[in-house]
Amino acid sequence: MAHTVDHSKHLIELASIDRERIVGLLKLARSYDDGAGMPRLDTALRSKLSGKNVCNLFFEDSTRTRVSFSLAAGNLGATVTNLTGAGSSVAKGESLIDTAVTVEAAGGHALIVRSGAPGAAQSIASHVGVPVINAGDGTHEHPTQSLLDVYALATALGGGREESFDLSGLTVGIVGDIASSRVARSDIAAMTKLGARVVCVGPVQMAPKSLGVLGCEVSSDLDGVIGELDAVQMLRIQFERHGSGGKKPSSPPGVGSVREYRSLYALTESRAERMKSGAVVMHPGPMNRGLEIDGAVSDGPRSLIRKQVSAGTLVRMAVLAELLGAD
Ligand code: CP
Repeated sequence: MAHTVDHSKHLIELASIDRERIVGLLKLARSYDDGAGMPRLDTALRSKLSGKNVCNLFFEDSTRTRVSFSLAAGNLGATVTNLTGAGSSVAKGESLIDTAVTVEAAGGHALIVRSGAPGAAQSIASHVGVPVINAGDGTHEHPTQSLLDVYALATALGGGREESFDLSGLTVGIVGDIASSRVARSDIAAMTKLGARVVCVGPVQMAPKSLGVLGCEVSSDLDGVIGELDAVQMLRIQFERHGSGGKKPSSPPGVGSVREYRSLYALTESRAERMKSGAVVMHPGPMNRGLEIDGAVSDGPRSLIRKQVSAGTLVRMAVLAELLGAD
């Protein structure tokens, strides 16, 4: 039987949580940072979640999120169980909700849920009594990705932002397939709550004007805004959400060809050179090098991409500690 979801006991979306909780989670992640962006693994930290069972329910592919949730739980002393669609009874037709209820009954104390269906994490949260963390649900949200994005950005910019997580005065561009992107939705929610101006950029089919209701600006002119940005988050074209069964069509939506997309929206070396001094480059991954971003940029001096991944373990430790009552 479904019940009302108390969002304070779960992490389903950033759109419905306040700035104070976002900052609290980021500060908790900071307290776990060894100063080099990696977790400080002292004895007290290692036993914080001892006796807790964290269960990854990943019904859609993942590398970064699944690995870092597993490492985060292990760093805090929890045990980790991994379940995927293939190889579980989901493949025999069991529903996601029956699967989640079963895992809770077996002793799971927190469920990390990734699914291609928007609303899957909230739906599971309405059927179980343990915390549910949304690890990405279709095109809806990916809240821990955005927490790690903000953590990496604030840390790189410094000047006190690495402690306050106040993004006032910054302009962040999110470029590419915004319409398909749960990362973009979570980033817009978090970054605007923390005071940033967010500009979403892409062809109109990928960055429709209607995105403005989320509190961002919308543009189809990357060259017109590139020089204003303090940070740019480049997005992969999510061909798997375009109804082509994941096969790459000859042209991305809204442009005549991949070549045209690159000429207008890729972060090429020459375009990156037009960014402000000190501006940084981000990408949530996985990347399509040579399509939305050049390898020389993703591996270059402006890039925070590896730091984003490291921050993922820290913020996921913070989310697990908060929801399992350890801090
Ligand atoms: N950014 C992100 O969610 O990556 P994975 O799909 O590899 O987890």
